[in-house]
Amino acid sequence: MNIDRNRLLARLDELGRIGMAGAPGRTRLALTEEDRLGRDLVTAWIREAGAQVYIDSIGNIHGVLRGAEGGPPVMTGSHIDTVKRAGPLDGCYGVVAGIEVIAALHGAGTLPARTLVVTAFTNEEGVRYAPDLLGSRVMTKDISVAEALQLISTDGERCGEELRRIGYAGDHAPWDFLPGIFVELHIEQGPVLDTRRIPIGVVERVQGYSWWKISVSGRANHAGTAPMSMRLDAGAAAMQIASQLTERSVVNQSPSVATIGTFSVDPGAINVVPGKATFTVDFRDPSDEGLERAELALRRSLDKLQNAGFSTTMECISRHCAVTFSDAICKEIAEAAAERSLPTLKMVSGASHDAQMLARLCPTAMIFVPSRGGISHNPEEFTDPDDLANGAEVLLGTISRLINRRIPAQ
Ligand code: GLV
Ligand code: MN
Ligand code: MN
Repeated sequence: MNIDRNRLLARLDELGRIGMAGAPGRTRLALTEEDRLGRDLVTAWIREAGAQVYIDSIGNIHGVLRGAEGGPPVMTGSHIDTVKRAGPLDGCYGVVAGIEVIAALHGAGTLPARTLVVTAFTNEEGVRYAPDLLGSRVMTKDISVAEALQLISTDGERCGEELRRIGYAGDHAPWDFLPGIFVELHIEQGPVLDTRRIPIGVVERVQGYSWWKISVSGRANHAGTAPMSMRLDAGAAAMQIASQLTERSVVNQSPSVATIGTFSVDPGAINVVPGKATFTVDFRDPSDEGLERAELALRRSLDKLQNAGFSTTMECISRHCAVTFSDAICKEIAEAAAERSLPTLKMVSGASHDAQMLARLCPTAMIFVPSRGGISHNPEEFTDPDDLANGAEVLLGTISRLINRRIPAQ
């Protein structure tokens, strides 16, 4: 039994063409018209593969291939929402490969013992709705359905209404499909596998992260008349903090990373000293202590600004400690790769994933394939077709082992 390689690649290409209006790259933010078009494709492919489609109340799409026995399903999947100007593979690869696994199993005509579910989770990226990992977060009851449906997007639209508008407000509870095992296939998005020329990563851990919205308020003034010594320039103060945060990671040579992904000043005019600056900070660190140290450094910088007469706020948008995956599932992945003579590397994920949330519920692990040049969240994101096919084969092998087996608890 094999994955249909040509169809896998053709479908990734087809899905990747949705949302190209603002090219370069595709922009398919959660619960937009582009997301709806992607969802329509995915649900059609799930049906074609021989599975049933169910939509839950946060809009997660579940493709269900019923097994002969009851019990919690084996689940795979990822997301099809994107960042702005994205590559074609982030998330989509795991969903499309999961559908191909169902197609291969169904096509072989053997009924698995355990039910298999492929899920496309809502708003994984967290670009349009915060927090990120929304579909899997609701499934694990990290936040309630009611709370999630009330979230307001960056363009002012309520999540529940957007779900209804695009036709994906389902009537199933997100926990109607709670898995007993979760395996997510994803591109690495970093340089490790590509640099070492290893085709398969067995992901044992995901580093922690925290997202912050910071505001600095000073006093708007005239750009020509206000002496530098008399200014409370919120823009200059915020830029200084932002560069301190990124420099801190470089100077410490720590694995800690910091990103200022959005930055705006108000009122935003060439000849006005900014009265207010707002920016976001994304911290990642493999150790929880490292993450806390980065957050403390930010807090201290903001305290200094307060002492200098500015007022500041620091709001947490999303936070997750580092997660360790299941040894048992990692072993199954390594064995499935060995059966195909594919070398593996045990690794830590730098990016966050729905698997982080699912690990709270059940034994979980991830499979990575190389990303050329370690580039992702960028239209240049690319993985060699052979690597894409190999990763999907390893997913098929892993799932084939799991759907007929009892797995010990984590
Ligand atoms: C998801 O792509 C993330 O790591 O932010
Ligand atoms: Mn992703
Ligand atoms: Mn992403």
